[in-house]
Amino acid sequence: MNLTTRLETLRTSAIDRLAAAGDVAAVERLRSDLLGRTGELTILLKDLGTIPIEDRPSVGRLANEVRGALEAAIDTRLAAMRETALEARLADEAFDMSLPGRPRAVGHLHPILTLIRDLREIFHAFGFEVFEGPEIETEEYNFELLNIPPDHPARDLWDTLYVAEPGSVEAGASRPAADGTILRTHTSPVQVRAMRALDPPIRVLMPGRCFRYEAVDPSHGFEFFQVEGLVVDRDTSLADLKGMLEEVARALYGRGVRTRFRPGYYPFTEPSVAFDIGCLVCGGEGCPACGRSGWMTILGAGMVHPVVLRAGGLDPAEYQGYAFGMGPDRMTMLRHGIGDIRLFFSGDLRFVTQFVEGR
Ligand code: PHE
Repeated sequence: MNLTTRLETLRTSAIDRLAAAGDVAAVERLRSDLLGRTGELTILLKDLGTIPIEDRPSVGRLANEVRGALEAAIDTRLAAMRETALEARLADEAFDMSLPGRPRAVGHLHPILTLIRDLREIFHAFGFEVFEGPEIETEEYNFELLNIPPDHPARDLWDTLYVAEPGSVEAGASRPAADGTILRTHTSPVQVRAMRALDPPIRVLMPGRCFRYEAVDPSHGFEFFQVEGLVVDRDTSLADLKGMLEEVARALYGRGVRTRFRPGYYPFTEPSVAFDIGCLVCGGEGCPACGRSGWMTILGAGMVHPVVLRAGGLDPAEYQGYAFGMGPDRMTMLRHGIGDIRLFFSGDLRFVTQFVEGR
């Protein structure tokens, strides 16, 4: 077989073998088998020297043509293979841009906390700063220093949860801790802590959780919040207290809110008052929400008792002050028309997520 025929045969067989190569690796292998340094074409051209000299240019041209044709065919095949592979991968990774995204659950404040924050903001405008005390208190701070001695009948107003004497529960005979440790029944003990920690003039807001030994029903929880306020200065009066609380009520419930003060009783304030707002549900006509009275009590207040000032290390001849204690749980119920205090602690997300807007 002469060289020309062998070149043509190589070309034809190479095209067939290329068509049979199944993947990129096989094609690359074929390239080196045909065109590599020891490839079939290279070996074939070694015989160029054996043919007549006048035939060499034409056979050489043919050899170059075959090489070019094979290279082109191989490159085309590889490009086609890569294209197919890319398309397959893209089809595999495809995602539908028109699908709606998955919403992220975003948390928000509990409605009681929202109300406490609103109170902080309102009282901030009156110059109050926040002062916090412990939830686990002593009987001394919770009662004695507030002018409520051990056998005073007023203790019955605050049914107390006692912390047990260490070991007594395990021994099967639980009794109150001998050092008087209890869960605070109100935030008023923080009044004394604030007076002992700060120098007058004092203007503090004292929010926090309180606990009482209560039978739980729609309007009573054994755990609830209070926001206490205390002002101590050289010349404060009940008139200041009255004017400020009326402004606070307007800020919280709107300018049209009706307010009234009634006489009240607390051992740690003298005189003591209760502060009512016109019922937000019936507007004052009387309905089940306000016990048909047309009024709702939102806080207790009064002028700080001299005994309490002295317990705080202050001279009642030099300083007076006023204090108030609000119930944010009840105020939140009024704000949203919530009928059962137990819902606040139910842990039911359907309940709390109703108040995403805050009010
Ligand atoms: N501590 C009182 C209560 O829990 C409320 C109160 C606070 C009254 C401050 C007067 C002054 O009922």
